Amino acid sequence: MKRTSVSHSPSETCKIGMELANTLVPGDVLLLYGDLGAGKTAFVKGVAAGLGIEARRVTSPSFGLIHEYEEGRIPLSHADLYRLGPNISEEGLEEIGLYEYLNGKWVLAVEWPEYCPDFLRDIAQEHILSIRITWQSENERVITVSRGDETL
Ligand SMILES: Nc1ncnc2c1ncn2[C@@H]1O[C@H](COP(=O)(O)OP(=O)(O)O)[C@@H](O)[C@H]1O
Ligand SMILES: [Mg+2]
Repeated sequence: MKRTSVSHSPSETCKIGMELANTLVPGDVLLLYGDLGAGKTAFVKGVAAGLGIEARRVTSPSFGLIHEYEEGRIPLSHADLYRLGPNISEEGLEEIGLYEYLNGKWVLAVEWPEYCPDFLRDIAQEHILSIRITWQSENERVITVSRGDETL
């Protein structure tokens, strides 16, 4: 499965996230690839809204690293690894508690998944969804959603 869409606004990106949310099951992990400002957090707002979480509550977890939202159809956790930098050690990931969200109860959304290649190998392939967001112009983004992690 691979689907590419072009978004022309943050709300359109949100809508694509909402549509994806309808297909999610507990244990799914969303890997959000894309540069700073691409729209990864904007996409997660849509996923949250689709799960029944108030989108405006979803903010970038850059400093808190992981945010939890438990009031939706499936509990959502949202991690942003940017601040930890590339090649985060297993101990580092355990310290922030990332593995706890692989217990089959959560949908986990990870920004900067390329920073934790070892963690990605511990997730069942059928639970992985890769989202790539590419900046085209100020308001235009190309968004590709696929099953499995293409980088593995
Ligand atoms: N089509 C679009 N989709 C998503 N964000 C967009 C779009 N057009 C403009 N933007 C802007 O780009 C920024 C994306 O920010 P954010 O979601 O925090 O990015 P990231 O989490 O990838 O660093 C926001 O300021 C948003 O308003
Ligand atoms: Mg972000």
